[in-house]
Amino acid sequence: MPIISAANTKGGVGKTTTAMYLANEYARAGREVTVVDLDKQGSASVWADKASDRGTPLPFAVEVSNTKRISRLADSKGSDHLIVIDTPPGDSSVIEGAIDVSDFVIIPTTPSELDTDRVWETIPTVRDGQLYGVLVASAVLHTRLLNDVITALDENEVSRFKTVVSFAQRYRQAVGYRPRRDATYADVAEEIGAAL
Ligand SMILES: Nc1ncnc2c1ncn2[C@@H]1O[C@H](COP(=O)(O)OP(=O)(O)OP(=O)(O)O)[C@@H](O)[C@H]1O
Ligand SMILES: [Mg+2]
Repeated sequence: MPIISAANTKGGVGKTTTAMYLANEYARAGREVTVVDLDKQGSASVWADKASDRGTPLPFAVEVSNTKRISRLADSKGSDHLIVIDTPPGDSSVIEGAIDVSDFVIIPTTPSELDTDRVWETIPTVRDGQLYGVLVASAVLHTRLLNDVITALDENEVSRFKTVVSFAQRYRQAVGYRPRRDATYADVAEEIGAAL
């Protein structure tokens, strides 16, 4: 059962949005998925509860857990079951614990220098040879800022998604609702599938 985590020590870079949209794409493609919420803020679980309360439950499970239980949780699911871990910002022991059990680590970042500085801090947590990809999100396309970030990642031979998630209101509006199909996150899922 592949375990994918969305991790970055920086807050507000799109970890939860990425975990939920990715899980949504996999579920809509017929996969069984569980999002594991490791964040004390509970953003993913609150999102799921709100969607349920509205009568439009998410097409995947969201479970609150902790790093010690992830392996056991993963073992209890079938071999086709996907686990997507949403991690908290700042808490390095939880972030490291999540990365440690992951088959693929997504490191979301926004194209701002303050945020990308933290990518360099998160990358060393990834094990040698472990699959990971920096996902540039909340990006205004065709800007110098975006171009500079992509260039910096490529010059440093950082593994990154070819897919860039643009800044779009629909992602903000989706919190607490069942997300619509999203071609961008479908591409992210496809890139992970190709790597795994
Ligand atoms: N592509 C996007 N375009 C516009 N807004 C976005 C995008 N992705 C995320 N957001 C918004 O940015 C904010 C932060 O996103 P999100 O909660 O996913 O980040 P996070 O890294 O999980 O934050 P935290 O560290 O607090 O857990 C949210 O309001 C979310 O709706
Ligand atoms: Mg979050």
